[in-house]
Amino acid sequence: MKNVHLVEHSLIKHSLTYLRDKNTGIVNFRQHAAIISQIMIMEATRDLPVNEKPIETPLTATMGYSIQESLVFVPVLRAGISMLFPVKDFLPWAPVGFIGLERDELTAVAHEYYQKFPQSLKEKRVIVLDPMLATGGSLVDTISALENKFAKTICVVCIVAAPEGIKLLNQKYPDVQIYTAAIDSHLNDRKYIVPGLGDFGDRYFGT
Ligand code: PRP
Ligand code: URA
Repeated sequence: MKNVHLVEHSLIKHSLTYLRDKNTGIVNFRQHAAIISQIMIMEATRDLPVNEKPIETPLTATMGYSIQESLVFVPVLRAGISMLFPVKDFLPWAPVGFIGLERDELTAVAHEYYQKFPQSLKEKRVIVLDPMLATGGSLVDTISALENKFAKTICVVCIVAAPEGIKLLNQKYPDVQIYTAAIDSHLNDRKYIVPGLGDFGDRYFGT
């Protein structure tokens, strides 16, 4: 496995336990999904290039910094929305593009039902938000759509990833960096992540 950043943090361990527990209700599920998303975005943006920006404090002149690159968030509908809410305040100026993908319950193959990106993604660093990386099909479709729009850099931020999905992304998009809070064991015969947490979207949205 390449380009995988497994973010290890005690707060993630604690919150992920709530997400995994089948007895966790919607309030705690949402709350802990938000906590993990915020930690994950901190890691995914840790090395963003910055420009020096001279400023004056009330006491003296000093050097500050500002983020250099144009960023775009792309949550994968629907579950990716859960990550957009808690992270958008970290980069409140970043435009948001959307792609809607839903896996067929029998085949686990995703079909696209919606796409709306900013006019141009040239020179943009795109941060894709999707809590679950299972077969990788949804993210392959997402990255393909972003490459068609000439996105400069693409990284993926998820919460739980399966080895199968990571392998597929590595094969298809060897330059894409993947940030995840957990790498689980495998997919079951219905292509759900094991041990996983079940259907993220259904649990987060209460459907
Ligand atoms: C889930 C999840 C990912 C996708 C991962 O979405 O949010 O987008 O499955 O599976 P994959 O790696 O095998 O493609 P789902 O299709 O259940 O739609 P939802 O977000 O509307 O719940
Ligand atoms: N999507 C989910 O929500 N959960 C899985 O385990 C796999 C795909």
